[in-house]
Amino acid sequence: MGNQETNPELENLLEYIKRTRGFDFGGYKRTSLSRRVCRRMQLIGVENYGEYLDHLEVHPDEFVELFNTILINVTAFFREAQAWDYIASEIIPGIIASKHISKPIRVWSAGCASGEETYTLAMLLAEALGMEQYTARVKVFATDVDVEALNTARQASYNPKEVQSVPANLQEKYFDRVNDRYIVQKELRRGVIFGRHDLVRDAPISRIDLLVCRNTLMYFNTETQVKILERFHFALNDAGFLFLGKAEMLFTRNHSFTPVDLKRRVFTKVPNGNLRGMLLSMAHSTGQQPVPEMVDQMRIHEATFEIDPVAQMVVDLNGIVLLANSEARNFFNLNPRDLGSPLQDLELSYRPVELRSRIDHVSANRRAITLKDIEWPGTDRDMKYLDVQIMPLIDDNTDELLGVKIIFTDVTRFKNLQQELVHANQELETAYEFVLRR
Ligand SMILES: C[S@@+](CC[C@H](N)C(=O)[O-])C[C@H]1O[C@@H](n2cnc3c(N)ncnc32)[C@H](O)[C@@H]1O
Repeated sequence: MGNQETNPELENLLEYIKRTRGFDFGGYKRTSLSRRVCRRMQLIGVENYGEYLDHLEVHPDEFVELFNTILINVTAFFREAQAWDYIASEIIPGIIASKHISKPIRVWSAGCASGEETYTLAMLLAEALGMEQYTARVKVFATDVDVEALNTARQASYNPKEVQSVPANLQEKYFDRVNDRYIVQKELRRGVIFGRHDLVRDAPISRIDLLVCRNTLMYFNTETQVKILERFHFALNDAGFLFLGKAEMLFTRNHSFTPVDLKRRVFTKVPNGNLRGMLLSMAHSTGQQPVPEMVDQMRIHEATFEIDPVAQMVVDLNGIVLLANSEARNFFNLNPRDLGSPLQDLELSYRPVELRSRIDHVSANRRAITLKDIEWPGTDRDMKYLDVQIMPLIDDNTDELLGVKIIFTDVTRFKNLQQELVHANQELETAYEFVLRR
């Protein structure tokens, strides 16, 4: 926790939150953290952290209020307009010029709150590329730890005051006016994938050309910021850019990034500067194997999952479909955009079998269940039978629940054989009876 002052009662409260809610505020600056917790304490009229902990135990809804107070998600379209002008005139054209027209452009908006920053990025990319190229090439990954903020971002509906900072021509071009709301146009939204991601704990997204993380790093203490920056280094392509908030600085001793424009807080990565060291420290912090085997193994895991002949998918704790292998995508006609969507938005959540209540059950009990002989007319209209296995995914080291895996095994052949066997037995019995009667 660095050299910050600590209060044992506050630490106890944070430990309790980590244990009961799996959220680790350990890396957050204690001064702002205690100020915000105290605000909640005043509002509900308790005197000290111990009493507040008791209150949390009895009123679990208070967690939501507390998180909302701590993770203030203040944001705006084109927040700090000058910096965005620079991104639009220098950085985005530079990225486009450096890439072949057939290559994807991958952007990560980390700590995206309710989506204004993300859609700002999307608008600038669409402006630079034109809508056709934007649709074909751009993926904006937008992540935050706050699920409520992500839901607002997904809805993409803003009030007149919120869109005031969007230049008039872009407002006209990229928003649909519905009653008194401004809804981000569908085409623009299609390039954006929202997902829950905790910067402190989750693995980084990779092959990123532009990583925008503004007004978020400041909530973490020095050590945690260094760790997050190491992951950002890993996330970025060699020629990739990092764009921070106005009030944020990289530490002077940081050798992984070098400023492109310090005033606008735009940095570029020092290629492979200390990749090995970074992976070692990532490995160290997660208790996993060191480099380079770790990277190779991750790729092997991914490839193995992808080509497995059995259809399978992974849903995270917020009900988001994180992975679906090639067989699952073909089997259920999923398209790549379905990855990152809430399971409840997909037909698959209730057909061939209602999954959500079963997933909740498996998550609560941390035990696998198997549903047998589920009928599925399939895409080719031939009746198929599936065994559906729903399994909890548990971290070996921490015993923490990470999500659930759902495996769809096609048992049609066995089912048909079984029916043929029953039929054959019946015929045999009839034949015996016939012989005996004679
Ligand atoms: C002040 S907002 C910044 C929003 C936007 N980037 C901007 O600059 O306008 C900070 C965001 O960081 C998010 N945040 C806090 N801790 C986080 C974590 N551990 N992982 C991911 N996001 C986090 C909060 O939920 C909040 O939405």
